[in-house]
Amino acid sequence: MDMILELDDYRVYYKTLSGYVKAVDGVNLSVAEHEIIGLIGESGCGKSTLALSLALPKPPMKIMGGKANFLGIDLTRIPWKKRREILLSKLSIIPQYALDSLPVIKKIRDFLRDIARDKGVDEEKVFERFKERINFIGLPREVIDMYPIELSGGMRQRVVIALATLFSPALLIADEPTSALDVTTQRHVLELFSELRDNNIVGSIIFVTHDIASVRQIADKLAVMYAGKVVEYGDLEEVIREPLHPYTRGLIKAVPTLGINYKKKRLKGLAGSPPSLLNPPPGCRFAPRCPYAREECRINDPPTIVLDGYRTVKCWLYTRR
Ligand SMILES: Nc1ncnc2c1ncn2[C@@H]1O[C@H](COP(=O)(O)OP(=O)(O)O)[C@@H](O)[C@H]1O
Ligand SMILES: [Mg+2]
Repeated sequence: MDMILELDDYRVYYKTLSGYVKAVDGVNLSVAEHEIIGLIGESGCGKSTLALSLALPKPPMKIMGGKANFLGIDLTRIPWKKRREILLSKLSIIPQYALDSLPVIKKIRDFLRDIARDKGVDEEKVFERFKERINFIGLPREVIDMYPIELSGGMRQRVVIALATLFSPALLIADEPTSALDVTTQRHVLELFSELRDNNIVGSIIFVTHDIASVRQIADKLAVMYAGKVVEYGDLEEVIREPLHPYTRGLIKAVPTLGINYKKKRLKGLAGSPPSLLNPPPGCRFAPRCPYAREECRINDPPTIVLDGYRTVKCWLYTRR
């Protein structure tokens, strides 16, 4: 399968007065063409940093190393001009809290004008595309002459989605795009992401969330992030059916509405919270919360183990199987 994005030992830190916050710290992850991958983890695990750094890295964020191969371009070394070129056209992001951050003094039409100018595309063409998108998305044409503040949260998020997909990007990164919406709207917006992919309006999608139940409705793959690292990756249903990493088990256990009956296995829940990434614990970063932690876990960071050819788990429990 063709990969659209390949991260290899990818690292993004924040430079602060007290030192580096190691928000993304050695991530390996691949996204295939036409795939929706869910990126899940508790708050503070580095999901937004990963998402934003691929599209719009800006200080105090600093790409510290590794590779991020996107359609043959290494995003860790791309010149700013080239980055601007691919933004929206090939790679689009819906940042966390996007629906609240639209400037209130502009009509949607003004956003479209900005985009047209930025991209050097004829305004009318951009308006046309926007109309196509909102038609697909199911918004009335009139929104183009409205201010964001006149729209409901759900409509605003749909407008954000229409803007992000104007140029049919090969990859759309959506950071918690449904978290601020009520349950019914959430479901519609989730379905919309699937439809955008199924109709080739976007190629692949990285869907960032802390809610495993919502991502289950749309994602093919699941990557579980903990304290700056991907600790488990695999086919979404497989991971939910048989979570391997103790952290993944804890996450799933915390959501009884998933309605899964794990007959033999007793899943241990999650106590505590993710560590500060300024001075993360040595060894496995999950060890302080892990019910299975042994001495070696507190000393050495576990390797990422590949099972069945592609499923991965980063945990000492699986090294001597
Ligand atoms: N501007 C910043 N400066 C310093 N640390 C930051 C900054 N933004 C985020 N962080 C830290 O980076 C870590 C990852 O944050 P984030 O990527 O927002 O996680 P998530 O999206 O999973 O909640 C957290 O420990 C957070 O405190
Ligand atoms: Mg976030």
